[in-house]
Amino acid sequence: MTVCEYRPGLEGIPATQSSISYVDGQQGVLEYRGIGIEQLAEKSTFLETAYLLIWGGLPTPQELEGFEYEIRYHRRLKYRIRDMMKCFPESGHPMDALQACAAALGLFYSKRALDDPAYIQDAVVRLLAKIPTMVAAFQLMRKGNDPVQPRDDLSYAANFLYMLNEREPDPLAARIFDICLTLHAEHTINASTFSAMVTASTLTDPYAVVASAVGTLAGPLHGGANEEVIFMLQQIGSVEKVRPFVEDCVARKSRIMGFGHRVYKVKDPRATILQKLAEQLFEKFGQDEYYEIALELEQAVSEKLGHKGVFPNVDFYSGLVYRKLGIPVDLFTPVFAIARAAGWLAHWKEQLGENRIFRPTQIYTGPRNQSYVTLSQRPQIWDKNGQSPQPLTP
Ligand code: ACO
Repeated sequence: MTVCEYRPGLEGIPATQSSISYVDGQQGVLEYRGIGIEQLAEKSTFLETAYLLIWGGLPTPQELEGFEYEIRYHRRLKYRIRDMMKCFPESGHPMDALQACAAALGLFYSKRALDDPAYIQDAVVRLLAKIPTMVAAFQLMRKGNDPVQPRDDLSYAANFLYMLNEREPDPLAARIFDICLTLHAEHTINASTFSAMVTASTLTDPYAVVASAVGTLAGPLHGGANEEVIFMLQQIGSVEKVRPFVEDCVARKSRIMGFGHRVYKVKDPRATILQKLAEQLFEKFGQDEYYEIALELEQAVSEKLGHKGVFPNVDFYSGLVYRKLGIPVDLFTPVFAIARAAGWLAHWKEQLGENRIFRPTQIYTGPRNQSYVTLSQRPQIWDKNGQSPQPLTP
């Protein structure tokens, strides 16, 4: 066996062979099953794109109708899931709530038949159908309200906005939200997808696969960056303060949220589309107070860090779009998860097709052949007041 060089973060190391999506980070190209993201954003819908990703080809009209019907039929949650959510603290992060709920689905649909195509189909439908309902339900319950039941006459995107805001969305808002879902549906082997694949490779159930991916997406270096972008724009506060902010970040070598990408060394093609969508929304519903700051920030960062390939990523403009759609900031990442579930499930299915459990190796850097020291012979450690450590508050 060849001994490979250690690459932190597995940068550049292929973890699988996949036919789901393709990225060219130098040219700013993203394709799902060979179709450019720009075409899908313009002509497709999220559910049709999810079908394409998971089943490998665009559906026929009958297949799409059947898929949409199944998803509509499974949108409702079991009352026990809703009861479980009622016990969650209102101050808890919605990503944690979503992770718990996704895992809990495994309790209700516990039969595991990974070699049965009907089981795979049911799991795909259930997860895609129920994740938006769970996200919207948690949002209403933490405000002390009853969750809103899904409406069968509304599209996937319109129904989510309806359940969230308790009123039917404007058709342009619903269409733009649907495009956002399409843009976030898949992106090769990123951290959360890799997490999904590792979990899938143990042949556990798909609910555990999605729960593991949700937990991974939550981090600020991954899906959580879209929230951080809004806090950052808020903190900058005005166009005049943008350049001093960038200078300071560069001097302190701190990360500017919504910029940079492991793969893209040019502007992320999804950021370009999202920026246009944001502008369409501003034209119809009014400008966002942070947009001018965002434009100046893009300009300043490109000038300062463009030589390192640091440009806006997908998270930079998505938050501005979501704000205009009435989505609270801490739901941005759960919304990302609603979309990315399609990609995770596509990779789950692909992984099952040619599975080998993930078991990488490591380079050991610790000591060897140490002697065991009994507890009574080890030094006592006291805090600065000479007290023994206090237990954590329960
Ligand atoms: N702000 C400032 N400098 C940056 C940024 C940034 N956002 N991103 C990269 N750089 C710099 C690095 O400091 C490094 O400089 P150096 O060579 O002088 O040390 C250089 O660009 C290369 O960066 P890497 O650390 O090699 O990039 P890596 O591929 O490890 O990181 C990541 C990618 C994690 C996305 C990074 O760009 C980052 O932290 N961005 C901010 C968080 C963010 O927006 N995450 C969302 C990513 S998209 C997604 O997950 C959906």
